Amino acid sequence: MTSEYLPGLAGVPATKSNISSIDGEQGILAYRGYDIRELAEKSTFEETALLLLDGCLPGAAELADFDRQLRGERRLKYKIRTIMKNLPTSGHPMEMLQTAVASLGMFYGGEEVLSDGITGNDVEYIHSMSVKIISRMSTIVAMWEHIRHGYDPIEPRDDLTHAENFLYMLDGQEPDPLKVKIMDACLVLHAEHTINASTFAAMVCGSTLASPFLVIAAAIGTLAGPLHGGANQRVVQMLKEIGRPENVRQWLDDRLAKKEVIWGMGHREYKTKDPRATVLQKMMVEWGEAQGILSPIFETALELEKACETALGPKGVYPNVDYYSGILYREMGIAPDQYTPIFAVSRVAGWLAHWREQLSDNRIFRPTQIYTGKKLRHYVEIDKR
Ligand code: COA
Repeated sequence: MTSEYLPGLAGVPATKSNISSIDGEQGILAYRGYDIRELAEKSTFEETALLLLDGCLPGAAELADFDRQLRGERRLKYKIRTIMKNLPTSGHPMEMLQTAVASLGMFYGGEEVLSDGITGNDVEYIHSMSVKIISRMSTIVAMWEHIRHGYDPIEPRDDLTHAENFLYMLDGQEPDPLKVKIMDACLVLHAEHTINASTFAAMVCGSTLASPFLVIAAAIGTLAGPLHGGANQRVVQMLKEIGRPENVRQWLDDRLAKKEVIWGMGHREYKTKDPRATVLQKMMVEWGEAQGILSPIFETALELEKACETALGPKGVYPNVDYYSGILYREMGIAPDQYTPIFAVSRVAGWLAHWREQLSDNRIFRPTQIYTGKKLRHYVEIDKR
């Protein structure tokens, strides 16, 4: 047994998995062996989710059945909406999302399975819970947009795809086809990423045989932080603060002198540009060209990327997935604090795939520590301290 302590468990394998792989030198990410660049172009979120959950690309009938199941699980109980309506609107939507997903467990907990603990053999239970959670998470995020502004949420429709329905519920309008195509590709790109912090949180929670709703709530809380999924919102704030491409060099020098991070840059696993950032950047150009204007914020981002290449490239720090996703969502008219919840709406597919994989060969996560505290000593009465 090793007693070497590696901060952040950097480079420590914590599981065996066949769900996705990263080649950090070449900048390749693959789900079940399929390059995400190809999936983003040719697949859909529904198909990618099933690929992640079941391990292979589905046949047409299987995919149609899964799609039908997802469409059938979009509605949200009024009691959960009431919980959402009673939440303060000043809170972050990730906190709302964690609350709402955890509360789903109060209604769909599946006591009979839970009483003995879930195992990898409970395939039907795992599948049906996965469908419920994937489907309802997009409803929750879209409904919140209206609830928090004091309006009744827009009801889901079952004649739309996952991405179409999400945008329809968010905007209240028939979704624009290019917007749908981009959103669908974004959902594909964010759906899975090996054993990152939120996936690890899901696996740790799942290893205790907790319910899938609590597993996903644990993952949502972990994704929210600025060092993980919360970075996309901060990228946009940062670019607004920089203001214009001409300000980039001075701003970067000052920022690095203060030893502050550049949001959306750097990744533990990639030593080159994150392949998802490259696809998102291309989609940003496609969207800009369709609108007839490339946003000034995007031009500032390009200039910052160039400046960072000189300043941080030697350390292997390049744009990650969050660098261009927030800018793209902003240009598509989405509220900044919804960028990370949208990440969760997609990543839930990967979390559930890892939950299922964990249960198929479960052992509770219980690492050890190197104790650095006091030696054993006697309790001191309060009047003698
Ligand atoms: N801005 C400036 N410097 C950065 C950086 C960033 N975004 N990311 C890494 N670095 C530097 C570190 O300061 C360190 O430099 P040093 O060796 O001179 O001390 C070096 O690169 C290695 O970084 P480290 O912090 O050890 O990497 P990590 O693997 O522990 O952390 C992240 C990875 C993602 C947490 C980190 O890159 C980061 O904070 N990025 C910004 C937040 C972000 O975009 N998160 C989303 C990830 S998808």
